[in-house]
Amino acid sequence: MLKYVVTGGRQLHGDVAIGGAKNAAVAIIPAALMASEPCVIENVPRINDVTVMLEIIRELGAKVRLIGKNTIEIDPRGVKNVSPSYELVRKTRAGYYILGVQLGMYGSSIVSMPGGCDIGVRAIDQHIKGFNALGAEVKVESGFIHAASAAGKLHPAHIYLDQPSVGATVNIILAAVLAEGQTIIENVAKEPHIVDLANFLNTMGANIRGAGTDVIKIQGVKRLGGCTYSIIPDQIEAGTFISAVTATGGEITLRGVIPKHLECITAKFQEMGVEFFDDPNDPDAIVCRAEHRPMRTNIKTLPYPGFPTDMQAVTTAALCTASGASMVSETIFENRFRYVEELKRMGAQIQVEGKVAVVEGVDRLTGAPVRACDLRAGAALMVAALGADGVTEIEGVNFIERGYEDFPGKLGGLGANIKVLTVPDVETAEVG
Ligand code: EPZ
Repeated sequence: MLKYVVTGGRQLHGDVAIGGAKNAAVAIIPAALMASEPCVIENVPRINDVTVMLEIIRELGAKVRLIGKNTIEIDPRGVKNVSPSYELVRKTRAGYYILGVQLGMYGSSIVSMPGGCDIGVRAIDQHIKGFNALGAEVKVESGFIHAASAAGKLHPAHIYLDQPSVGATVNIILAAVLAEGQTIIENVAKEPHIVDLANFLNTMGANIRGAGTDVIKIQGVKRLGGCTYSIIPDQIEAGTFISAVTATGGEITLRGVIPKHLECITAKFQEMGVEFFDDPNDPDAIVCRAEHRPMRTNIKTLPYPGFPTDMQAVTTAALCTASGASMVSETIFENRFRYVEELKRMGAQIQVEGKVAVVEGVDRLTGAPVRACDLRAGAALMVAALGADGVTEIEGVNFIERGYEDFPGKLGGLGANIKVLTVPDVETAEVG
């Protein structure tokens, strides 16, 4: 088991390269199975959720070759309609994208119920609504989702999602992309990773229009070819570094970003007093300067282009030492404040009532032993530790490594003092 030992109180300065978007990669990798030739995918983040997804597609018969530090080749020509292993799919949320891929390719699929961060119910009724509309019967039995079309293939449909679910939008696109005729999906998610998936599939020869808007129209095609594609940069990784420099003070330059994707984040941090500048020599960079104690603000998480729910925990961590009280409303997930109890160990003054947290800014946090309970919670503890006085030991870093490539190394490159220790797995005995 690993833990991070963070000595806080040091400003961050310098350049950091932002990697490929996790939530785009875990959708694009399974989508590559639908091609009839190999695909080369660049800017793939080396994170555990991607590793698990690559293991899943290998189990289905795909050949995966690492041809560069962040470049992979996926050869789908040996792929069969088999079920990925139960335990592997449970390790991640995105494993259920195999349902959309196999329904699209074969008209049937059996995949175990997904895992993913414990941040709420994480229902899949919108996925099932879309699959039903496309002609597949879906039932859940013995921990597996069984989906199949009696006709052996899906037909087009006009689907109106009850809410703009990212996962359901991805899964329905995957299921519909080869269905003969026009499928229309309304009230879809508009996140940049949805657009990235559509662009990837269109590069393979699909006909998907409207990604990034409220309505996506898909004209089914007979086959998808291979392609070379580069994944968009991760807006949440970039936002996490913005939170970090807000908590510590300093000036950092984020390299390899798409500034447009960050506007929903930078606008909020400008309210907190962080300044942002372009780099005249690099259009793919943004400079963040945090010279003063952050100012209080209010946050309400919403589907893109609203403030991202994945930024909620790390922003709250930065607000712990803001001047004044801030209100944080989490409208997407039911249980995304579990990290607050750990921040309180560091002296944070936060009251949570249901899906709202009130953060009373304190002058400084103090380092303490804390434990991550999910991916973005872990990142929030890191943000708090970087700005805190003293030493913080963070356990549960396996969560952090699901979504951040070389997080301690990148922060170290900005001047942070982080040691990565291997400690024996200690079973915490149930007491009391
Ligand atoms: C994706 O999760 C991301 N994960 C999450 O990122 C992200 O927080 C979330 O989208 C919102 O942006 C991946 O892309 C792998 P949803 P997903 O379907 O697809 C409810 C991270 O930290 N809902 O948009 O599961 C659901 O319960 C992770 O990187 C239904 O009710 O999110 C939730 O309350 C965490 N029925 C809300 O909608 C459904 O059929 C949003 O879920 C589907 C969803």
